Order: sequence, then C-alpha cells, then structure tokens
Amino acid sequence: MARIRLQSVGKRYPNGFSALENLSLEIEDKAFVVLLGPSGCGKSTTLNLIAGLEDVTSGALYFDEQIMNVVPAHRRDVAMVFQSYALYPHKSVYENIAFGLRMRGHPAADIDRRVKDAARRLELEALLDRRPHQLSGGQRQRVALGRALVRQPAVFLMDEPLSNLDATLRIAMRAEIKQLHQTMQTTFVYVTHDQAEALTLADQIVVMRDGVIQQIGSPEEIYDRPRNTFVASFLGNPPINYLEGMLTEEGEALCFQRGSLSLVLPHALALRLKGQAGRSVKLGLRAEEVDEHSVPRPGETLHGRVSSVLPVGSDQYLGFEAEGKLLFFRVGRDLRHREGENVALSVNVNRLQIFDSGTGDSLLWSGNGA
Ligand SMILES: Nc1ncnc2c1ncn2[C@@H]1O[C@H](COP(=O)(O)OP(=O)(O)O)[C@@H](O)[C@H]1O
Ligand SMILES: [Mg+2]
Repeated sequence: MARIRLQSVGKRYPNGFSALENLSLEIEDKAFVVLLGPSGCGKSTTLNLIAGLEDVTSGALYFDEQIMNVVPAHRRDVAMVFQSYALYPHKSVYENIAFGLRMRGHPAADIDRRVKDAARRLELEALLDRRPHQLSGGQRQRVALGRALVRQPAVFLMDEPLSNLDATLRIAMRAEIKQLHQTMQTTFVYVTHDQAEALTLADQIVVMRDGVIQQIGSPEEIYDRPRNTFVASFLGNPPINYLEGMLTEEGEALCFQRGSLSLVLPHALALRLKGQAGRSVKLGLRAEEVDEHSVPRPGETLHGRVSSVLPVGSDQYLGFEAEGKLLFFRVGRDLRHREGENVALSVNVNRLQIFDSGTGDSLLWSGNGA
C-alpha cells in the first residue's frame, strides 16, 4: 500500500526556475488522483518528483511514513506511463512488456505468467509477436500500460497517457483505465490538461496553476463549488459565463443586479451571502444552466438576443447577447431560435456562482465538503 504525502515541496530546476513552491498534498492509498491544469503549471514536475525522476529541492516527500526525498527511482515501487509510450522499437510487444521484469531478474516462468496475464487484461494476446510500428496508437498505449501493470507497483503514475490518441479511442481508453484502477486496487496519480478526462477518471482532482494548488476536491466539488474563477473557468464546456454586477436587497430577498437583470438568489445562496448586499460581485453562470420555459419566472429570467446558433448533435451552442455581454450557452436541440431573435431564458439560480469581482475568489466557498 502507499499513501503519498508532499509536505511544503519546492522544485527549483538547475537553471534557477522555480516550478513548484510550498506544495502540500496528500494522496490516499488506492485513490485515483488527477493533477489538472494548463500547460506549464507543474503537473509533470509534481509527478516526476513522486517517481524520483527529479529531485525535490525543498520540503519532504513521503510514501506512507517513509521519507523518499533521496530514494532513487528504481527503489520506489512506482511505475510510470508516458504520453509518448516510450516503447523499444526493435522489441516485440511481449519483450516490451517483459523488459522491466527481466531487468529486475524475475524468473522466466514468473515473467511469462505476468506478461500473459497483462496481455489478457489489455486485449493484447493476439499482438504479442508484433513490433510497435505494427500497432495502432491505442494498441501502443496498451502495451505501455501493460509494461507498468506487470510490475504490480504500489503506485501508478500516468503523464497524459491518452493525449496522442484520437477522440473516440481516448474515451474508450478512459473507461479501461478506470476499470484497471478498480481491479488493481492501487494508487493512481494521473496528469492531464483535459478537464473532461479529469472529471471522468478522478476520485480527487487537484487543480494547479503556476505551480500552486488552487483546489482539491471530488469532481462534483470542483465543478459545483469552484474556489475561484480560475477553477470555474478551467472546467466546463463551453466555459462558464461571467457578469459583473451587484448584490442588492429586495425586501426579504437577496438579488444579483446588473442593468435590467435581477436574479433572486435562492435561500441557500442568500444565507451564505448574508450581510453582503451592496457588494460588487462577478456572477458565474454555467453554459448548461439556462433553459426556456413557456412562462418565464420573475427573478429567474435573462432577456437577450440570440447572436449565433451552433448545432452540435444532441445539443446546440447559443451565442447570447444580454446586458451588454456576449454569453455562450449549451441548450437542447429542441430549442428553436434563429439569429437575431429576442428570447427570455430561465436561469437555474440554484447553480449560480458568486465571486469577488476583484480577487475572483468564490463568496460561496467554505472548504471541501461545504
Ligand atoms: N528541466 C527543466 N528546467 C527548467 N524548467 C523546467 C524544466 N522542466 C520543466 N520546466 C518548467 O517548469 C514549469 C512546469 O513544467 P511542467 O511540470 O512540465 O508543466 P506541465 O506538466 O503542467 O505542463 C514550466 O514553466 C516548465 O517550462
Ligand atoms: Mg506535462
């Protein structure tokens, strides 16, 4: 078993660049944790520190209670899968999968059993004699997974393993990786810049930006209760919409006001925003949280003009001009409107986000599980 703990970890590269500062993170045994963030935010650096491919320059890295800072990579009981597969081109699939075990001096019979077991699990049995160039991208990535799997490591580390695959295959492989985690019962740490992948795979998502953790939580927490506008914008497609405005009191109710728009905040939100009337805020409205009702409800209605209609199969994207802003929504295909039409949309006020207009911090966020 392996619980991984990073305690105020810093990583400064030899050229002086500081990629991580004071990063603290606990990864539970058997968890599936996804490090998510834009290119250059420090995901691979964090993974490489756990793998032992890079040295921690400050702070401490633990596996369970053991400090790992100076333990070399090959003594860490981790296996890593890379985006580039990193297969040996002149070796067969069988030998690629077996290689790590051979290097560690496993007996031939044990190697054979493990390779065949992994091949069965990953549906590679018919391909064991082939060379990597005779395989599709998806099959190559399966071989790379197989090579990690036969090691039976305590921790699987995966750095964007599906990024080279086409969209359909990527979705199929996500399901396989998730299944693999369930049957292996080991810790997975998985790096991606793809928010949909993170939401699909993770028990816990760690959102990173410029070497700093922005939020840690379950996919639901990260999506429904983002800690700031960075996290809110990074997840969701099309991205969340923002409207600057003000919190106002209307009798008993707390409202979000901008121009002619007045949204009555539901009781649960109003409770969290007690005493904040008069404050300038940024409203966050997710693309999928509008709909059309035959009788628009007061306090939940957004008037505007359809500026573009983009069908995407089961859904459509609407460009929508309202209150001097261009917003993007995702609605069902049954909503029939043309460019230029004036429309009243119902807003799902239960899912509104409210951020400080200066810092971008959520005014609704109060820690995980809140
Ligand atoms: N060997 C290195 N030397 C100097 N800077 C590096 C090195 N490797 C990565 N970096 C820098 O560290 C930052 C984080 O990189 P990385 O962890 O690869 O990001 P990510 O995987 O999130 O895209 C980037 O700004 C990158 O340019
Ligand atoms: Mg990377």
